[in-house]
Amino acid sequence: MPRGGKRSFVCRECDYQSPGWLGRCPGCGQWNTIDEVTQTVAASRPPGRGNNRNDIRVAGAAVAAPAPVSLSEVTFDTSDRIDTGLGELNRVLGGGLVPGSVVLVGGEPGVGKSTLLLQALLSMESRAVPTLLISGEESAAQVKLRSVRLGGGRSSLRLVTETQCEALVAALEQLQPSTCVVDSVQTLWSAAVSSTPGSVAQIREVTAQLLQVAKANGIALILVGHVTKDGELAGPRVLEHMVDAVLSFEGDRAQPFRILRAVKNRFGSTNEVGVFQMAEQGLVEVPDPASVFLEEGDMRSGSVVVPVLEGSRCLLAEVQALVAPTNLTMPQRVARGVDRNRLAMIVAVLSRRARLPLSNCDIFVNIAGGLMLEDPAADLAVALAIASAYRDGGAGQGLAAFGEISLTGKVRYALQGDKRIQELARRGLPRILAPSRNAEESAKGGGTPADMKIEAISDIAEAVRLAAPAARSSSG
Ligand code: TYD
Ligand code: MG
Repeated sequence: MPRGGKRSFVCRECDYQSPGWLGRCPGCGQWNTIDEVTQTVAASRPPGRGNNRNDIRVAGAAVAAPAPVSLSEVTFDTSDRIDTGLGELNRVLGGGLVPGSVVLVGGEPGVGKSTLLLQALLSMESRAVPTLLISGEESAAQVKLRSVRLGGGRSSLRLVTETQCEALVAALEQLQPSTCVVDSVQTLWSAAVSSTPGSVAQIREVTAQLLQVAKANGIALILVGHVTKDGELAGPRVLEHMVDAVLSFEGDRAQPFRILRAVKNRFGSTNEVGVFQMAEQGLVEVPDPASVFLEEGDMRSGSVVVPVLEGSRCLLAEVQALVAPTNLTMPQRVARGVDRNRLAMIVAVLSRRARLPLSNCDIFVNIAGGLMLEDPAADLAVALAIASAYRDGGAGQGLAAFGEISLTGKVRYALQGDKRIQELARRGLPRILAPSRNAEESAKGGGTPADMKIEAISDIAEAVRLAAPAARSSSG
């Protein structure tokens, strides 16, 4: 059935689709954002010719069936990858930029996205890789100022401060850079869409156009995307599916360390991370980041070290907890660096399975150094930091723990326990609470130093007894 010219109504802010016009968008709650759109291209078959597949037409023209290639004939050359000049960035990308690929780099304002990518461009330009920076956010003078600070004041890096997408497409076709950075995709606008720059419809259109030029001309394209308050890339779903890789740049602006994480990567392992330190002259790579997130000096009660896996690396993080009596009917549960729901679950398990009466307490949990814990094996450390803070004793003195906690209170086996234990040993932590199977494996392996004590844990109540004994209990 021919379907050309079908009408539908789409919100220009959030892409919500509706069969009829609405004053207020049910998707994002905004007023007067719904536009009528007409879908013109549709496949059709000429009437009365049966089911002959050769007659399929798109917009009136006959389409040819694509010829398949045999997988055995497909060639693939890793030496094609472009070295960004930053080892940590290469690592997260899976070995450098792939020509013709599109990478989205997301992160909160001020985390250092522009700095990171300008550094990479300056390095590539200095090695005669033709580059282009499309800056919609900063003026040429601002970019110059930053590059002087980064030691690239004399670079011949080419810069365009245009935001009109069709003009940029023409520029890319004419200039033919190997690598192009667009900072940021939210500032660009296309004449093909009527909504404001930064809206979902614009971002989608602009990205689609740039993607096409990048693929057609073999340009490695990096799009910078801002993250909204709740941590999602604006126009998230749309962009994540369109691009080849999504990198997320994370870190606390008040802290020096930054983590670059691959959320999606069609050309490499997804879970690799890169670690940087923000310094006076830009971002400095941290090639051995295992211990950089630990705080200096003695550990107090309420703090426990946890080894977390980030891709092929193991990082040590310090979980700090504070538990304080409260008169509030809804006690506070404040988490920084830990998922709030995860914290709620851990607190519930501590209350029910380890009999810690936490319902009249405010609980604050913080991960030192601005790290975001996603590894489920961090559960045990969070639980023990809370238990130790509640009892105002135990833990501290270099206690480390890892293991995922189940709702029944069991502590589960953690992946790559040996790697975690080795990293703790390297840092010289004397006491580790580990899931029993991990502890057994490690004992069999025999690689742990003599002055290091590994205690096997099978459930949370036992762990609390060992790490934060009740004898010195305060009334709580
Ligand atoms: P920026 O790259 O502008 O962040 P984004 O593009 O993600 O919004 O960097 C922001 C911060 O980095 C800014 O507050 C200043 C700091 N900074 C340094 O500390 N050292 C440097 O060399 C540079 C260029 C920036
Ligand atoms: Mg910026």
